[in-house]
Amino acid sequence: MLNRRELFASAAAGVVLSGWRGAAAVADAPPAWRAAFAAAPDGPGWPGFACVDVANLRIQGGQAVLEAGSDVFPNDPRPVAFAVDRRFRDGSVTARATRTGSEAGVVVRRTSHRHYYAAIYRQEEAALVVVRRSGAALKELARTPAVAVRLPVTLTLESSGSAPTRLRATLADAGGAGFAAAATDGHPSLQAAGDPGVLTRATTLFPSERNEVLPPLGNVHLLPYGVQEGNAFIESPAGQSVVDVIRDRSTASFSDIHVQTDDSFAPTPPSVVAATTGVPGERGTTVHVATDLPARVAIEVADGPGFRNPRRVDAGQTGDFEAAVAELAGATAGRPLYWRAVVSRRGKRGTGPARSFRGLPEANASGPVKLAVAACASQFGPVFDHLARRNPDVFVWQGDLNYPDTHGPLAQSMAGYAGIWRDFLANPRIAPVLERTCFVAGRDDHDYGVQDAHSRNQKPFGLRPWDALMARAPYHRFSAGVVDVWVLDQRLFKTPPDAPDTEAKTLLGARQRAWLLRTLEASRAPFKVICSPCTLSAAKPENPRDGNWSGGYTAERELLLRHVATKVTGRTVFVTGDTHYTMVYDRDGVFEARPCPLDIPVPNDITLSDPRAAATLAGRPGVAYADDTRGHFALIEAGAEGRRAHLELTLVRQDGVAAYTKRFEEPLPADPAGGEPQDGPGTGRAPAGRRTPASGDAGAGRGRGGGLPFTGGRPVALALAGTAVAAAGLLARVAAARYRRG
Ligand SMILES: [Fe+2]
Repeated sequence: MLNRRELFASAAAGVVLSGWRGAAAVADAPPAWRAAFAAAPDGPGWPGFACVDVANLRIQGGQAVLEAGSDVFPNDPRPVAFAVDRRFRDGSVTARATRTGSEAGVVVRRTSHRHYYAAIYRQEEAALVVVRRSGAALKELARTPAVAVRLPVTLTLESSGSAPTRLRATLADAGGAGFAAAATDGHPSLQAAGDPGVLTRATTLFPSERNEVLPPLGNVHLLPYGVQEGNAFIESPAGQSVVDVIRDRSTASFSDIHVQTDDSFAPTPPSVVAATTGVPGERGTTVHVATDLPARVAIEVADGPGFRNPRRVDAGQTGDFEAAVAELAGATAGRPLYWRAVVSRRGKRGTGPARSFRGLPEANASGPVKLAVAACASQFGPVFDHLARRNPDVFVWQGDLNYPDTHGPLAQSMAGYAGIWRDFLANPRIAPVLERTCFVAGRDDHDYGVQDAHSRNQKPFGLRPWDALMARAPYHRFSAGVVDVWVLDQRLFKTPPDAPDTEAKTLLGARQRAWLLRTLEASRAPFKVICSPCTLSAAKPENPRDGNWSGGYTAERELLLRHVATKVTGRTVFVTGDTHYTMVYDRDGVFEARPCPLDIPVPNDITLSDPRAAATLAGRPGVAYADDTRGHFALIEAGAEGRRAHLELTLVRQDGVAAYTKRFEEPLPADPAGGEPQDGPGTGRAPAGRRTPASGDAGAGRGRGGGLPFTGGRPVALALAGTAVAAAGLLARVAAARYRRG
């Protein structure tokens, strides 16, 4: 039954939603619900439906349009739009599709996020298939040829019974042809009531698979889109025709969706889509939860994985993008604390997966601590297994988290980025790390949605979804025993690169810079680790197009280094990223380790434009290590014995080898509590109005385009060639599909 608010909302939206139940309307009539969109005005979203995948939903021309955004791993290429509070076990869903793209389907028994049955018309394969989705697995249960299909098509999937469930799919086309497929299945997660819905599939130029034409380039999704040259091509008429093909292959439109059952409709319980431990705080941490529907969130906290006698922390109602954040306390240094989210709406509950983290030693306590720091990955290879095996307390990934701006043109939207970050946090390849580690995520340019991001060229979708789902504040500080850690943001407030290189020109913005200088000076930790996404070293000006502390912003670097040399106690260590070859600079008291990239295949932007980049750098004064062919992460292990604190920084290579190690020792401070009080509970909280560049930011105008993909190189022709080859491949597939169809 529709409630009053839904009736009002649907009437206001012009969508015909009809719901009736025997007793009040037609005696003995089964419950049914229909969403017909013919009279609806154009606008975002579909009344009565929800979707948390990488997709755009809108009403357009009397059709419900489902635009699938990305087939780049770990994004789910098949977004599901499900009808909320229309749950049934036995019944059917029927959808009339006026446009199918590469796939269009109907869904039953969506029992939770990514658990459902579907009947899918696969246009390119000329087949009707019945599938079972259970987590990351998609199993085909039945298939029948569906040739010479004419649009529009009417797809139906019926479910009945339990253990096993009987499934029957039909497809009726505009020419009167019909196709059917049937299956039985007893998967335990799908033997109960679930939501009905529809789906389609993203088919972009940027799939996550080895490219047969350009195998050395690995994940070809990086090439065409996430660089200025690729964007210029995409915006050209030829590029727009490529986008049109992507849109055509990735979009399904439905004129109406009809649900029928002998059951009573049940409300949809909320599902936990992602649950992540975030920035560590005083004897605790921040935790992040994302759900598929607005929900009340409580966090159960326990000393063991069995959650016996848990205590509860209220995280309140989900907000923007169905995300909630809570602060957990009560952690003991060196011991794991377990937590899980309990989410509820309309009297229904769901429970999220168990997560744990180890309590960090208090500031200046001698207990051991292990941090991993890295930047830039376009794929998820064995280096992540090595990272998990090292079992860090905290993993700082400071930027270019799988390059969301390269995931496809239809994903460059508010809903697209929200889906990208949810899928990132649910990535099975990094689950072993995220399940038991504090994950501190920082943004570099591509996470803001644009190469060479600065304060004047940001995209709206690079801001709000991240703030809700990944990290509340753009920059952070936390204490971990003998180490204080700063995680900086160098894009949000960054002066455009064409301004003169003076102290007014900044990567940090006035407020963050003042906070960094003040808290560095106040810190009594023997070691200060500054995680700076952008490079620092004076060995070589890196990335000249958009600049950083190593070039173009050197006045701010000198100001910071002068401050460190004269006002900061202990030893300061910089860990940087952004530029895609790993190096160590160690000279005149300045130490910078750049474990970057974490995982980008070669040849990449650096080695294509300068095959001797690392060798050249290695010959420069102060450079202690350089490697441009393999990925790395930094492992920082610190603690104290007696009155001596130590910090060992190791660069772990993608094959697991500890390729470089440097050990530092410092005395423990006599007065660890000395100095002025530091900010808050160990995190740099977001300054008010932080989306506006801080006052005092200098410079004007926009960064120049042209030049160098990613960080500085010249494989423009390769980028365009990649686009052209990928486009040709896609067009060939489409042509082949049309041939088969015809
Ligand atoms: Fe990068």
